Amino acid sequence: MAVDTRIIVLASGRGSNFCALSDAISNHTLTNAKIVGVVSNKKGALVLKEAEQRNIPTHLIDSKNFSLNGIFQRTEYEKVLITTIASLQPDLILLAGYLLVLGKEVIAHFPNKIINIHPSLLPKFPGLHAQRQALEKGEKVTGCTVHWVTEGLDEGAMILQAKLKILEGDTEATLSERLLPLEHATYIAAVQLLLHSLKH
Ligand code: GRF
Repeated sequence: MAVDTRIIVLASGRGSNFCALSDAISNHTLTNAKIVGVVSNKKGALVLKEAEQRNIPTHLIDSKNFSLNGIFQRTEYEKVLITTIASLQPDLILLAGYLLVLGKEVIAHFPNKIINIHPSLLPKFPGLHAQRQALEKGEKVTGCTVHWVTEGLDEGAMILQAKLKILEGDTEATLSERLLPLEHATYIAAVQLLLHSLKH
């Protein structure tokens, strides 16, 4: 029997992408893969509850505990993050609404393993509020991108991209809501591609 690819998810929020990926494994859309842990920097994040309900081990590394005189101690935080991730022995690390930028130590520690989903057609509109940025620029089409994670914000090579028409009257909220199912499908498809390439 093939050994399952070990996946971990890093997330800070509600975790709808995590849920979609986890469901895709449960219903065998994604095969030979297992989510072996969810790591979050945010206490109380909904994604942690979703993972617990699915009996997936959770790891909270509360970034609020890594503040000294109001300054985030990234190096200290990332030491713990690296140890936690390494203990899970992942083959793939999926960022899904993980709101901290990963420093170069983390990226160097897990080469060719970390991917992210971003709600725009990168290289357009990296960073926060990508949907709002697209609307403000008067774009007619936006979408989402799954890409490798590098030190540059939302800059790594693209794995898969999907497009969505912007409708007359779309707001940041309606556009984000319509984009979400496409994000889920695109993330699942991108992971499927990688699972195939990992096998060969
Ligand atoms: C998604 O829009 C994703 O593209 C972005 O953060 C959001 C996370 O949503 N990186 P969720 O927590 O997966 O529901």
